[in-house]
Amino acid sequence: MDKCTLVTGGTGYIGSHTTVALLEAGYQVIIVDNLVNSSDKVLSRIEKITGLAPIFVRADLRDTSTITKVFKEYPITSVVHFAGLKAVKESVEEPTKYYDNNLGSALSLVKAMETSGVSTLVFSSSATVYSPFEDSPVDEGATLGPTNPYGMTKYFIERMLTDVALGDKDWSIGLLRYFNPIGAHSTGLIGEMPRGTPNNLVPYVMQVAIEKLEKLYIFGDDYETPDGTCIRDYVHVVDLARGHLAALRFLEKTKGSHIWNLGTGKGTSVLELIQTVEEVIGKSIPKEVVGRRSGDVPIVYADAEKASEELSWRAENTILKMCADHWNWQKQNPDGYQ
Ligand code: NAD
Ligand code: UD1
Repeated sequence: MDKCTLVTGGTGYIGSHTTVALLEAGYQVIIVDNLVNSSDKVLSRIEKITGLAPIFVRADLRDTSTITKVFKEYPITSVVHFAGLKAVKESVEEPTKYYDNNLGSALSLVKAMETSGVSTLVFSSSATVYSPFEDSPVDEGATLGPTNPYGMTKYFIERMLTDVALGDKDWSIGLLRYFNPIGAHSTGLIGEMPRGTPNNLVPYVMQVAIEKLEKLYIFGDDYETPDGTCIRDYVHVVDLARGHLAALRFLEKTKGSHIWNLGTGKGTSVLELIQTVEEVIGKSIPKEVVGRRSGDVPIVYADAEKASEELSWRAENTILKMCADHWNWQKQNPDGYQ
């Protein structure tokens, strides 16, 4: 192992899958996470999958002196930054919490990296930075315009990191704009662990499927789409994990800041998604069409050509495989890591 990567938020959903990909590719991984939205039980699961154990440091990213000590203690050469809060609705209700945690963590991390001379960074951004008025497929040059505090934190961090790379030519920074991550590792050992009632479609449908929730509410079937329901670009979390590895390898050879969409480039409607889940679980999902959810746009899917050309990365998993893997995780772990 000659490369050592710090993965912030590495016990979380996307971070744990990316840790698996990094360990399998021969990287040593140091995880920093305060466990605000994850469990340290994920660590033994990662070891079970890979036969390798990441080093774990429980700390808050905003604690710059502790993070600087982590850089002193381990031979870290790059960072993948996942740590952050991600619930859109909560961010509208408690904006200060989001600006404090997400901006505070990113700024603290960059300061610790500057002190330690580490200048290769991959950042988890989101398609939510794009203006809702952009036509799909959305490419990286599309107009930005987040509509909630969560999306704003991603936008501000992107801006800060772009300025960091402009100010110091030693930096290599990748901003990854994910579309809708779903699925789980095919072993069913790691997956998403939503706290409380899920807000996102797939975690919600899965909890209806295991009968934890009574029925799915479909938010509107009167959109201007072929079946009237909204269309999104769902991407398998294991494909996303490979995307981080591809970005890191690119950044290890290049300077400057770079932006890549990570999506499949294909849209799936809410009804198509539900049908696929029904096919996987072999039964019908109780459901009811209700009014539109505020803030939803009819169609969002990626133009993912830039990642394909520059990183040789393409999402490989089908929507059927995404739903099957998500269901396998959900069935095996009805209460997450509890
Ligand atoms: P997650 O909540 O499962 O993982 C985030 C991790 O960060 C958690 O383990 C949490 O405990 C940790 N964390 C939060 N604040 C911290 C802090 N101050 N110090 C240390 N650790 C802290 O979320 P995820 O789905 O894995 O998302 C990872 C990243 O990707 C997030 O930044 C999220 O905004 C972004 N993202 C997620 C999605 C999605 O739909 N899941 C879509 C686009 C972007
Ligand atoms: C939502 C966020 C987005 C965030 C993303 C993270 C909003 C407006 N957008 O995106 O900022 O980056 O999650 O993955 O919150 N749906 C139902 N019933 C449900 C849940 C969802 O019908 O119980 C529908 C929604 O109306 C939407 C689709 O399913 O049309 C997908 O919803 P969701 O999984 O929340 O993702 P996004 O809306 O794309």
